[in-house]
Amino acid sequence: MFLLYSAPPDLTVHLFSSMTLSHEKEEVEDNTDIIMEGALIARDRVGVQDFVLLDSHTSEAAFLNNLRKRYQENLIYTYIGTLLVSVNPYKELDIYTVTQMQLYRGVNFFELPPHLYAIADNAYRVMCSEYNNHFILISGESGAGKTEASKKILQYYAVTCPTTEQLQVVRDRLLLSNPVLEAFGNAKTLRNDNSSRFGKYMDIQFDFKGAPVGGHILSYLIEKSRVVHQNHGERNFHIFYQLLEGGEKDLLSWLGLERNPQKYAYLVQGRCAKVFSINDKNDWKIVRKAFSIIDFTEKDLEHLFGIVASVLHLGNIQFEEDSNGHAIIRNGTQIKWISKLLGVHLSILQEALTHRKIEARSEEVLSPLNVDLAFYARDAVAKAIYGRTFTWLVNKINGSLANKDSTRKTVIGLLDIYGFEVLDTNSFEQFCINYCNEKLQQLLIEMTLKAEQEEYEMEGIEWEPIPYFNNKIICDLVEQKHKGIISILDEECLRPGEATDLSFLEKLEEKVGDHAHFVTRKLADQKTRKSIDWVDFRLLHYAGEVTYCAVGFLEKNNDLLYRNLKEVLCNSKNGIVRECFLLSELDSRRRPETVATQFKNSLMSLIEILMSKEPSYVRCIKPNENKEPGKFDDCLIRHQVKYLGLMEHLRVRRAGFAYRRKYEHFLQRTKIFIRFPKTLFATEDAFEIRKHLLVSRLQAKYKGRLGKRDYQKKRKAAIKLEACWRGVLARKEAKKRTWAVQIIRKFIKGFINRKKPLCPENTEFVRLVQYKYLMKLRDHIPRNVLDKSWLQPPSILEEISEMLQKICIRNLVQKYCRGVTPERKVQLQQKAVTSAIFRGKKEGYQQSINLPFADTRLKETDISPKVLQLIQGEKVKYATPVVKYDRNGFKARERLLVLTQSSAYVVEMAKIKQKIDYATLKGISTSNLCDGIVVIHVPEDNKQKGDVILQCEHIFETVTKLCMLANKQNLVKVVKGSLRFRIGSGKEGTMVFTVGPEPHVFKAKDGQLTVVSNQAKS
Ligand SMILES: Nc1ncnc2c1ncn2[C@@H]1O[C@H](COP(=O)(O)OP(=O)(O)O)[C@@H](O)[C@H]1O
Ligand SMILES: [Mg+2]
Repeated sequence: MFLLYSAPPDLTVHLFSSMTLSHEKEEVEDNTDIIMEGALIARDRVGVQDFVLLDSHTSEAAFLNNLRKRYQENLIYTYIGTLLVSVNPYKELDIYTVTQMQLYRGVNFFELPPHLYAIADNAYRVMCSEYNNHFILISGESGAGKTEASKKILQYYAVTCPTTEQLQVVRDRLLLSNPVLEAFGNAKTLRNDNSSRFGKYMDIQFDFKGAPVGGHILSYLIEKSRVVHQNHGERNFHIFYQLLEGGEKDLLSWLGLERNPQKYAYLVQGRCAKVFSINDKNDWKIVRKAFSIIDFTEKDLEHLFGIVASVLHLGNIQFEEDSNGHAIIRNGTQIKWISKLLGVHLSILQEALTHRKIEARSEEVLSPLNVDLAFYARDAVAKAIYGRTFTWLVNKINGSLANKDSTRKTVIGLLDIYGFEVLDTNSFEQFCINYCNEKLQQLLIEMTLKAEQEEYEMEGIEWEPIPYFNNKIICDLVEQKHKGIISILDEECLRPGEATDLSFLEKLEEKVGDHAHFVTRKLADQKTRKSIDWVDFRLLHYAGEVTYCAVGFLEKNNDLLYRNLKEVLCNSKNGIVRECFLLSELDSRRRPETVATQFKNSLMSLIEILMSKEPSYVRCIKPNENKEPGKFDDCLIRHQVKYLGLMEHLRVRRAGFAYRRKYEHFLQRTKIFIRFPKTLFATEDAFEIRKHLLVSRLQAKYKGRLGKRDYQKKRKAAIKLEACWRGVLARKEAKKRTWAVQIIRKFIKGFINRKKPLCPENTEFVRLVQYKYLMKLRDHIPRNVLDKSWLQPPSILEEISEMLQKICIRNLVQKYCRGVTPERKVQLQQKAVTSAIFRGKKEGYQQSINLPFADTRLKETDISPKVLQLIQGEKVKYATPVVKYDRNGFKARERLLVLTQSSAYVVEMAKIKQKIDYATLKGISTSNLCDGIVVIHVPEDNKQKGDVILQCEHIFETVTKLCMLANKQNLVKVVKGSLRFRIGSGKEGTMVFTVGPEPHVFKAKDGQLTVVSNQAKS
């Protein structure tokens, strides 16, 4: 035994499949399950959740045991590999909640207990990752739970698939298409209170993001006969009861209906209009709501309900024979309502229901019908309009589900088709239904059992074929061209002459009589003969024997509607009826295809559709015949297990590589092969123990990886940023340098050309030099008139500089002058005079410059008032103490020198010793040395006593005042060596000036006045 073990990245342990080597013959051992339970405690409490894990996998008993055990614990799902076996619980289980859906979403298939959601999710995920199309085939007999399963899958997608607000509408329509189709296409049967009486294949379209964006429904052969006839314990289609129960009062009265199903012949044949398990009133509300979501207009609904009501009215039409044996309508009420609701002319309708138009050569003749034929015609109309309205309904829903954009989409198809059906009396419908189930079984065999085994053999894998029943032989019996039952039926329908159901039966005996799966009373052996009627034939289907009553086969296969009735309907004012019955149909002379052939062809194309997609399978099992929860009918279930081929399927799965994937995919996902389940369980246990460590290790590694990735990303980004920034800097720098080079070059050029007159080469340079010089000059401007410094100008600016200097000096001078006070002005004028006289001539002058002249050295108060009186009120301009030397002995006497406006006076106390009129002043002499001697030369007249020899402390001041008052500046003389002076009365003396260590004035031995003065400091 081989088990295949995989450890996908998320650490979920998967069991994919198991394989039994054919030489191992194992006994049924109940306790093996117990051992396994021990190993799978955590995940699987009851039995095994995958039949592949049954050690005694060849034992049907073990299989049933496992199924029962689980069923009793409400575990209705079990896998055989990837196939899901589902047992109808007949009670609400708490496993379809949104939480459950979320739980299964995106989780690996075998990680959680078996569930429809796992199948749905698996198909969805493979579709998203491999971008291919899928279908989920739900099979099982009537009442096994197929329709419920398909609805649950649809709900799962609606809840878990990503969606947008826009797509909500699509989602709602997908979901709500179900109640509408069920109302019109489902009915209560003995097997199932909500039995689908049509086949349904629904494509859900997904966009590349995995969001459901649209859908398309294909419907197969609705069981129209139910409209006019129901077996005991069965009902007509739900919509009739829903309308009567739930329909608003106004609506019913508009339709001419009464709220009582018992009043309608088409609703009472089964004698169970009211069923405890069905809430028609409530269902009506759901259907009404669905209509509004699926884009039905009020007009559409008016027409639609008009048709439903018309069918009910039709059923109540009764015919009676007139005197000629022709049928006439007994009561006019119903026909009036029909004429109103279908928008057809009353009398034409009346005529059409009681007559038949026969074409005799080129003529058309109306032939009256007898009562039986009239009833037949009535039922034919009812079936035809209901059947075609159903097709219209499907198209309408398709229109609202259609996705208009042309981008590529992937699909998941849901096939929920009527299940295998065996009734007390089986007719043409059961024949078609069971044929359909044969075809689907064929598909399953082709795609799994057969294909798989053939592949192993082809690949040379050691393989002992697993026998299984291939139902191709039955399919051929039904569908083979010319030889099959359908061909024979068609032939009988089309051939001229009196063909009847019995002649059909005879043809069958003749042509397929020797087929192993075909029996009639005539062909049967003694034992079976009893159970077959003369009008019956029996087929040995894959799922069991079914005896069909041939009565009605021809009629149903022909599905004839009299031409005149068709004409009436083509002209209907009811929009739906008009759409369903096109005038073009009347023109066509070709016989329409028979019902069975149409059905056969549509099945063929369905099989083609399915073959091009990846399959998933759900096999539904009905646990008992009584719709009873918890009841596990061993016999019934064993039978289903058998005909569904589940044991064979299990054996092939166990033996083979049931996990069928492209080699590359497989290799990518699969890590370990395990030979025995026990090893697997031990591995699983070990895994449970080590899981956490492994997880944390992986997590650490993973986090490390993430961290590293993150770091490298950041590093890369940083390097990039750095490079960019450096680039920016470098460019900036280069720009700066280019700029600098240009500036320098310009500067050099300017420098070379600086001496030229202004030209483009040197303008900037010159301007710069000017600017620089002027700016510098600003800080070096002389601050006062005495500051003679001046910033050396560059050669090109010499001229300007000179002008500027002049301006500057002028300014300074002006400023200086403005700041000079009148007193200071006088001083300065005096100093200027002093300078003119003494500068460079007399020693001590330099030192005297900074000593200011006093206005006077003596105040008027220091002068005797008598003297002041003597000078006769002349204002004293200057007075100073002096030393006077006598003209004879040169004796030194202290005197005052007083100067007025007109004269100078030599004063002794209160006496004026000598007055010198300025007008008579002949000269003023001083030496060039550093003494205070001044000689005032006077004219020779009697009054004058001779020249005055004075020594004053402030020689420059005194002399200046004197000569200025006398206005005789040019009479002042600075002599060198000696000078001559007059000593009154015509005598003259000499005065000698020398330099000595001690200043001294004395009369020398030679009688000359000698003045010794200090060597002046340089
Ligand atoms: N998973 C389920 N949970 C509860 N009840 C179910 C489930 N599946 C089926 N049923 C019951 O069985 C009945 C028949 O199921 P349905 O799907 O209509 O059968 P089918 O389509 O195979 O004929 C349903 O009406 C419902 O009452
Ligand atoms: Mg169904």
